[in-house]
Amino acid sequence: MKKICSVVGARPQFIKLAVVSRVLRKYYQEVLIHTGQHYDHNMSDVFFEEMDIPKPDYNLGISGGMHGQMTGQMLIEIEKVFVKEQPDMVLLFGDTNSTMAAALAAVKLHIPVCHVEAGNRFGTLESPEEVNRTVTDHISTINLPCTESSLNFLEREGLGEISTVVGDPMYDAFCYYTEQLDGSVLTEIKDFAGNIITLPKKFYYMTCHRQENTDTDEKLDGIFSAMESLDFPTIYPVHPRNHDRAERLCKEKGYKNIILTLPVGYKASISLVNRAEKIVTDSGGVQREAFFAGKPCVTVLDFVVWPETMKDGCNILARPEKEDILTKLNRTVTFDADYQPFGDGHSAQKIVSIIKNFLN
Ligand code: UD1
Ligand code: UDP
Repeated sequence: MKKICSVVGARPQFIKLAVVSRVLRKYYQEVLIHTGQHYDHNMSDVFFEEMDIPKPDYNLGISGGMHGQMTGQMLIEIEKVFVKEQPDMVLLFGDTNSTMAAALAAVKLHIPVCHVEAGNRFGTLESPEEVNRTVTDHISTINLPCTESSLNFLEREGLGEISTVVGDPMYDAFCYYTEQLDGSVLTEIKDFAGNIITLPKKFYYMTCHRQENTDTDEKLDGIFSAMESLDFPTIYPVHPRNHDRAERLCKEKGYKNIILTLPVGYKASISLVNRAEKIVTDSGGVQREAFFAGKPCVTVLDFVVWPETMKDGCNILARPEKEDILTKLNRTVTFDADYQPFGDGHSAQKIVSIIKNFLN
């Protein structure tokens, strides 16, 4: 049986891996490498447990530090595993430092690379994710963009011949686990202190973790001051990156309408998406999930990453400023039920069948 090394490290990658790995393992021996980029229980283990992802064969324990340091350490350690395992292909997801490090390690060893979720572009290398996905796309053997717009970027960069649209594994996961939840309703959530809070009937769901929004008080507080003034509370599971800043700001400003929680598991997160009135986020995954669930979304970023979600204003960009966010939240949105640009919920099968064509 041929061998494929999948490399993951961050929360959204575990989710994509869950759906792809389930199909991949029917045909290939999968060796799973977890770089350790995300390591808290509720940023990593919880996904493996609740999504039935096999335990990683390797956990490299590399996290934190400057981007170069993290990526460099990953490159060194991943290369050692590839040399030992001699995989027939390396499978990568998205645009994290773990992805780029693995792509570099593989290409130097002449191992073919398959890149899932290729082709997204902001248009600026100021974003660390843009650097990672651009480099990875250009050294991959097969690029598998989720959407036509991502394919267009790859074509413009001369990568059209090695690129195929397969749909979005995040949509696969959303469909699969929403069905598994079968309408069961999340009723409680734990705050930072571990106190159990009954979920309000109506609430906004917020996630915010990008370096550009969370590295200064000013920007994060611009977002908080908007959420504080809304008619319903906001549920905000906070990424460990800005746990301390979020807690301090809410205390200092006396905010009462924002419920800070530790990061939640995937099923809780999609339950929150499905139940929320509206969503405010800077997450690539959550803005798509808002779209999948038909919830109006405000994305607090300067650049569009998922243009399909923006059709008819379903998702809209805002600056991290109170008035701009409130204006955008107050718009009226109608979703076109017939428009589903993220595939049919079976991208994992398409990904594996393209891998099979290549390896056979
Ligand atoms: C990373 C990805 C980003 C992705 C996000 C998903 C890069 C450059 N960025 O950003 O594309 O959207 O994951 O969530 O790869 N930390 C903890 N515990 C954890 C995880 C992280 O304390 O379990 C801390 C780290 O030590 C670090 C900070 O959070 O100090 C940021 O983590 P890092 O993995 O560098 O970046 P993310 O913001 O998570
Ligand atoms: N998510 C989660 N728990 C949380 C916040 C988000 O499971 O506390 C899920 C969310 O539903 C989506 C994914 O994590 O499926 C998005 O990951 P993240 O925002 O960390 O990264 P991005 O998508 O921006 O790369």
